[in-house]
Amino acid sequence: MDRIRIVGGHALNGVIQISGSKNAALPLMIASLLTRETLTLENVPGLADVAMLLRILGHHGVDHSVDGRRLGAAPYASRAIHLTAGTIVDTLAPYELVAKMRASFWVIAPLLARMGEAKVSLPGGCAIGTRPVDLLIMALEKLGAKVEIEAGYVHAIAPNGLIGAEIHFPKVTVGGTHTALMAASLAHGHTLLVNAAREPEIVDLADCLNKMGARIKGAGQSVVEIEGVGALSGARHAVLPDRIEAGTYAIAVAMAGGDVLLEGARADLLESAIDVIEQAGATISVTNEGLRVRRNGAGLAPVDVETAPFPGFPTDLQAQFMALMTKAKGRSRITETIFENRFMHVQELARLGAHIRLEGDVALVDGVDELQGAPVMATDLRASVSLVIAALAARGETTVNRVYHLDRGFERLEDKLGGCGALIERVSGAG
Ligand code: EPU
Repeated sequence: MDRIRIVGGHALNGVIQISGSKNAALPLMIASLLTRETLTLENVPGLADVAMLLRILGHHGVDHSVDGRRLGAAPYASRAIHLTAGTIVDTLAPYELVAKMRASFWVIAPLLARMGEAKVSLPGGCAIGTRPVDLLIMALEKLGAKVEIEAGYVHAIAPNGLIGAEIHFPKVTVGGTHTALMAASLAHGHTLLVNAAREPEIVDLADCLNKMGARIKGAGQSVVEIEGVGALSGARHAVLPDRIEAGTYAIAVAMAGGDVLLEGARADLLESAIDVIEQAGATISVTNEGLRVRRNGAGLAPVDVETAPFPGFPTDLQAQFMALMTKAKGRSRITETIFENRFMHVQELARLGAHIRLEGDVALVDGVDELQGAPVMATDLRASVSLVIAALAARGETTVNRVYHLDRGFERLEDKLGGCGALIERVSGAG
């Protein structure tokens, strides 16, 4: 397994191109199951999760082709992928595939809506918590599906098709909202989603579905209306830029110091995260090309944050921001409200010399003057990248093991940071 080796203490200066969003690309790719025509997605990031989902979709009968990179194109130019689900060859998503990537559970919605049946393995727990799918099942049942859970599988049938309904989510769920949007698009009649997730990735999916002929109104707000249609067609859609990748590099600049243009990053996708990173001591300005992030050598201020659904501070930036706070001048309080167990980075940050105390869903971070490089590893993607951020400002060398996790969600991280002056390299071999 590859490792990433970082020698801290080098400021970041230059340009980082922001890739297409992982968490938008995955549901968009799954939406290709809704139509027999070709869905072309542009700006798809080159990530392990995308490759895995292509394999999973292939199992259901989706053919794909990837456009080659044009001569002279930027090295990170994300790709266009053509996905065609001419015939669904299997409505069963086996455990071996779903267990590898939780989001693949979402295939249940298009398979059920198009084929009247789907049998999908329960995804099980993962490093960041139990992550149940009860609300996704509730949404499908409201739309008229008969759902049974048998031997670890969710078996849903709707032989006469799904029927529009009013669906109230007791809790904001991104996956629940994606699932309901896809299923209701092919249901008979009108669906109303109440307390829907408002994340930009939801809006991106709805925009793409509308290009495919769906009739969705209000995506990005808490109440969404969907008028079902008989069939969807192919479309062409560009995946929105990755707000979490942009926020991660903004935090990296705040940590290491320097001046970096995040090309393609959009302030409207980051909302409250920008305020929080600025309060910590970075300056973020909007330019025609993206977001420019600067920090001079001044000390970092402690900032209390609480994760919340969009437009609140994203849970997917919590670990990275905690890494930043390990060097703030004073105590910060970081509260995780979305996932109950998303603090695996705490132990590893401590190995670098951070002072963090956990009290339930709150981490109390007492900033230290200096972090010290050490070998570390993490068991999820955002936790891993938080260690990279800490390493950028640590004295000496840090080795981040299990780079597999980084490759799931960050396209060419070492090239992007290395291109801005970080001393970072990938070391292949045992890890
Ligand atoms: N929840 C339930 N029941 C459900 C569904 C969710 O109780 O049926 C709970 C979850 O356990 C959690 C909360 O509701 O406590 C929110 O979960 P949500 O459904 O919104 O999360 P998700 O759809 O599984 C997506 C992202 C995550 C991101 C969360 C929150 C993708 C592929 N995943 O997960 O991204 O953290 O939304 O914004 O879009 C990551 O990229 O590292 C990542 C984990």
